[in-house]
Amino acid sequence: MDLIDQLYSRCPVDQIRFDKETPFETLQEHLLKIKDINEYYIKKVLKKIIDLGLYEDDTDWIYDEYVTLLNVTEQDQYSKIDSIRYFFDSTDNNNDKLYVDIYEKPNLISASGTTGFRTWEASLFLCSYILANKQLFEGNNVLELGCGTGICSILLSKLNIINENYVTDGDSELVSNQLVKNFELNDILLKNREQKKIKLQRLWWNEDTIPSDIDIVIGADITFDSTLFDALCQCLLQCLQNCSMCLISATIRNQETIDSFISITKSLGMRIEEIERTTTLKHKKNLLAPIVIYKITK
Ligand SMILES: C[S@@+](CC[C@H](N)C(=O)[O-])C[C@H]1O[C@@H](n2cnc3c(N)ncnc32)[C@H](O)[C@@H]1O
Repeated sequence: MDLIDQLYSRCPVDQIRFDKETPFETLQEHLLKIKDINEYYIKKVLKKIIDLGLYEDDTDWIYDEYVTLLNVTEQDQYSKIDSIRYFFDSTDNNNDKLYVDIYEKPNLISASGTTGFRTWEASLFLCSYILANKQLFEGNNVLELGCGTGICSILLSKLNIINENYVTDGDSELVSNQLVKNFELNDILLKNREQKKIKLQRLWWNEDTIPSDIDIVIGADITFDSTLFDALCQCLLQCLQNCSMCLISATIRNQETIDSFISITKSLGMRIEEIERTTTLKHKKNLLAPIVIYKITK
């Protein structure tokens, strides 16, 4: 990843690899752009440049910028919304980079009502699965359950391979606010809405109506709370009246919880099989728990 891409993906500053190819003017332009949304990150990047003694001809500008940010603290940044760029390996022959931008709150671990401001690891694994299995999705109508930031559906839109995309979450505030903004950030909403290809809507499991014209259901990190499993599994069962399979990416934080999900799924007569598993992700260095993709069918 080149230097600018590392900055947009908010690579931890101690891991940034500075290269000789990036001209200072280019770096400067992007530092200023990113500063508009994340001053604390740029403060840390400038400090690293100063510590390493890089860009000697431009130290005046670097020092001046750094001084303007001296009072900015990590806490200041916590209350602000950042935008993170996730890069994916493109399997196309053209050289265009494939990435999705997502509005996030840095360091948000978990808090009720705020999951829309954090991309969970299970969705990144599901994105890799989608990329590796594009043919499965081609020309199909896809429903995403509990989409959160919407990263999987945004990737599907960017790939331009599916027909209709129902992007849903039970949190209507998230759907009308953060989700719309994330689609807009990636410049895909307006164009697709005109063609009625993308529908962002609330879907509370086992309560709201399931669209009838769906082929595949996807969901990431929606198996974190066993009290939701009855509703979730009923919802999956309803989906399978219309579609061929549900692909659920699950972070195995607690084996008992996931066993309970599997057992409720089976008790409702559905088949469930593990089709992928990982303990590593390119986007997150320290993965605390394995992630599994389950294929659920009738
Ligand atoms: C841990 S987040 C995962 C978000 C996203 N899929 C990701 O992996 O980044 C779980 C999501 O499920 C949604 N959710 C929780 N309970 C739900 C329910 N009963 N019906 C629909 N969505 C629900 C939440 O609003 C939240 O966005």
